[in-house]
This record gives sequence, C-alpha cells and structure tokens, in this order.
Amino acid sequence: MSAPADLPLIPRPHSVRTGEGHLTLGPDAGVHAPAEIAELVRETLDLTGAGADAPETADPTETAEIRLSLADDPELGTEGYRLLVAADGVRGTAGTLAGLRWAVQTLRQLRGRDGRLPHVEIVDRPRYGWRGAHLDVARWCHPLPFLYRYVDLLALHKLNTLHLHLTDDQGWRFEVQRYPRLTEVGGFRDGSSVGHSREGRTDDVPHGGYYSQRELRELVAHAARRGVRIMPEIDAPGHMQAAIAAYPWLGNDPERRLPVRREWGISRHVLNTSDRAVEFVRHVLDEVADVFPFGYVHIGGDEVPPHEWAASADAARRVAAEGLSGPEELLGWWSRQLADHLAGLGRRAAVWDELIEHGVPEGAAVFAWRGEKRVRRALAAGLDTVAAPEEFTYLDWAESDAPDEPLAIRGLLPLSKVYGYEPKDAVLGVQGQVWSEYLPTTELVEWRAFPRLAALAEVGWSAEERDFPAFHRRLTGHLPLLDALGVGYRPLDPIT
Ligand code: ACM
Repeated sequence: MSAPADLPLIPRPHSVRTGEGHLTLGPDAGVHAPAEIAELVRETLDLTGAGADAPETADPTETAEIRLSLADDPELGTEGYRLLVAADGVRGTAGTLAGLRWAVQTLRQLRGRDGRLPHVEIVDRPRYGWRGAHLDVARWCHPLPFLYRYVDLLALHKLNTLHLHLTDDQGWRFEVQRYPRLTEVGGFRDGSSVGHSREGRTDDVPHGGYYSQRELRELVAHAARRGVRIMPEIDAPGHMQAAIAAYPWLGNDPERRLPVRREWGISRHVLNTSDRAVEFVRHVLDEVADVFPFGYVHIGGDEVPPHEWAASADAARRVAAEGLSGPEELLGWWSRQLADHLAGLGRRAAVWDELIEHGVPEGAAVFAWRGEKRVRRALAAGLDTVAAPEEFTYLDWAESDAPDEPLAIRGLLPLSKVYGYEPKDAVLGVQGQVWSEYLPTTELVEWRAFPRLAALAEVGWSAEERDFPAFHRRLTGHLPLLDALGVGYRPLDPIT
C-alpha cells in the first residue's frame, strides 16, 4: 500500500492508501453483512448477492466477497468505518450501522465504470455530526420520486440530514389530518412570480400539490435505510400565508380573505397570538412529530414582519399578559410555545437565527443563516449551532455572472467559495440551503445543488486541510458517476 492517491472519492476520506491491483466484483459476488446493510450493498452496487451461497472455487475473482461487520473501534466514532479492498475481496468494519452505510457509499464511488475496485485501505470518519442539505418544497412542490432521488444523492456524498422546508406563504405541502384545508386550500395557488420578484410580475398558471403522511413515512424509511435523517420544517409564526388562506381565523384580521401568495418575497401577514392559533400549530406539530421520528423539528422563526402585531389590540393584550416589553418580543414568545410543546413530545426545536435576539427556546438548535457573523454570534451565546451562512451555503444563489446563468435570487456563490468555507470547530455541523423560488423544475434544482453540494459535503466531512485544485481533480473523476445516475449538475468551470 502506498500514499494517498487522487481516487475520485468525495468527500475525501480521512486516510487512503492504495495498492497495485484491482478487484472485480461480479454481479453475484457474495455479500456477508448485517441484513439491512447487505440489502443496501446489493441495491447500491447492483449485486444479486447470489454468490453468498455459492460453493468455494479456486478463482478469487469468482469468490470475491464483500464482508461488512460491526466491531468495537473507538477511533471510528459514531459514523466512521475501515475498508480494505484486496485480492480476496472487500472487508469493512465499523462500530455502528451508520459507519457501515458510509462504507457502502465509498465502495459505490470506488467502483469504476468497468466494475473494478482498486486495492485500497481506507480509515474514515466525519468531522461534524450534522451534514445537512435543506430543500424548499413549499415554493414549488417537487415530485415525490425526486425526493427519493435526492435522498440517494445526499447519501452518496455522506450527507446525513435532509431538511425539508414543507410550508411557506406560497404553499403548504404536509398533509394534516386534523386540518385538511391546509393542503386542500393552502397547497394550491393560482399563479406565481415571473422573472425576478423585484419586477413585480406574476402569471395565472396554477401550481400546487402536497405529500400525504403515508408518502412521507415511506420516504423517511427509505432515507433511514441510507443513513439520512429527515428534519421537517413548519415555518412559524411568519411565512404562514398559505395556512391563513386555509383558516382565516389564524390571521390578524379574521374578516380578510387572503389567497395563497403568488409572489416570492416575505408576506406581511403572520399568525395572530391567540391561544387558538398556538393550539392549532401545536396540533400540526403533533402530526409532524408522528411522521418524522428525527430528534429535531424545525419551527422556522425567520423573517417575521412585526406590522400586524404592532397594530393589533389582541397582540397588545398578549404582550401585557405575558409581561413582554413589546410586540417585537412576540416572536420569541411564539417559538417558546412551540418548542415547549415539542419538548413534551420528546423532540428538540430548531430555529433560524432571528431568535438569537428574541430568545432562543431552551434546548433549541440555531440555524445561523445571515452570514458567518451570525454563526459567531450564536456560538458566542453558547448555542447549539448549525452553520448555514448564506454567503457560503445558499446554493440557490447564482454560480457565475455569465449571461447564460439561469435566473437566481442573487449571487454570487461559485463552487470554489463553497469549498473554501472554513466552519468553526464548535458548530454542530454545516448545511447547504436550496430555496426553490427560482427552481421550478427538478432539473434546475440539480443544476444548482450539484456539484456545490458535493463541495459542502467535503467541508462537513473532511477535517483535512482543503485543496481546491485537488478537489477539482477528484470531482472531475466523480462526475462520470453522477452522469451514470443522470444527475443534471452544472458543468465545472476550468480553474482560473
Ligand atoms: C431564510 O433564508 N429566510 C432562512
């Protein structure tokens, strides 16, 4: 075995030593592993696994086997693994099933298009426990099969968390059995912004859709088999116009009939501060928590305009009754009502960084999005922090200012800048955001997400010093696998 080679592995493993030879795994190579891992191997590597029962023969290429097993190994932590590819087959060990799942993804990346695996010895473990990818399915309801595909692409890059932004002013995508109008009414709008939202134009083309609880449970199970957790987001008390359209008594003027919002941007209309509105969202969270077993539920809290509360006698009464200093404290109050309820369900809340000034609920994690300075601010306040600073991780931003660049909310965020992000050690991890206002099709989502999400995956996984030219070379070697999977990534720009 010799020093690290430029094997096209992304994220880059902790240590790689390569040998001279290659191993050919036939489609019926034997697979010996805990049942769910064996199933993942067969699915991921397209093996039938028939060879596991085959009699021993003299030819090692025919008896080549994959053996993956659990073993105590403190060095590997909760997600690490060891992998050896040699003449007689593949051996992998990990302390956890999570580690074995990542070993499978490494095998998937190692296998060339000719089906051969280079002889290699890998010891690997992630830098951060939170390696997230956020996807906005509220602005455009991306089809369910795409969510399966997206989960698979996250797993391929060892990203372990899908943050699903399920509700917003422009659409409600989560079926709530107790409140069916949320999807019947809130799931559909009668037009959308055209061009950049600052132009103020809309069309009259209806759009809508939602996911049933059964569909989401199955997605959660599919993701779990690949080591991906799904964190749902119900964004409150702002970004709620679709819910107010469905149930006008949630708003601050019950006489007003609001449509599900067509335009991008932030609605002025927010939830009122009544007990009934709080109870409503708590009921929603009960159903959310029942569908999504992950320990965190994101409750939003971003971009909440104060105007309606400032003008509301009911809100003023709430301020007085709770002993708050003014309507601007109602955001923190709202988030506490929801976070306390989640705590009763055994879950932790996640919130956007606006809550730092408004009172982060006890036990909540903060998603610092308004720049790296907000990450530092959250850490200085001693908060559990996921780094999602927009200037490095908002993957809906344009990658270049070339004239043929598809319309984007803003820019610029080239691949090299994502790759160059250096998070603070103290964060829980990092997350890439894909807001979908300007991504009405799954083709555009893939174009924006890849390969920048691959770069972010490496930022979250690899503790080693980053080297963009070396990453670019490995990425060039990785793209044929994305091609084979039909991923519509944005082609690489040459390094300048
Ligand atoms: C956000 O981008 N409004 C969290």
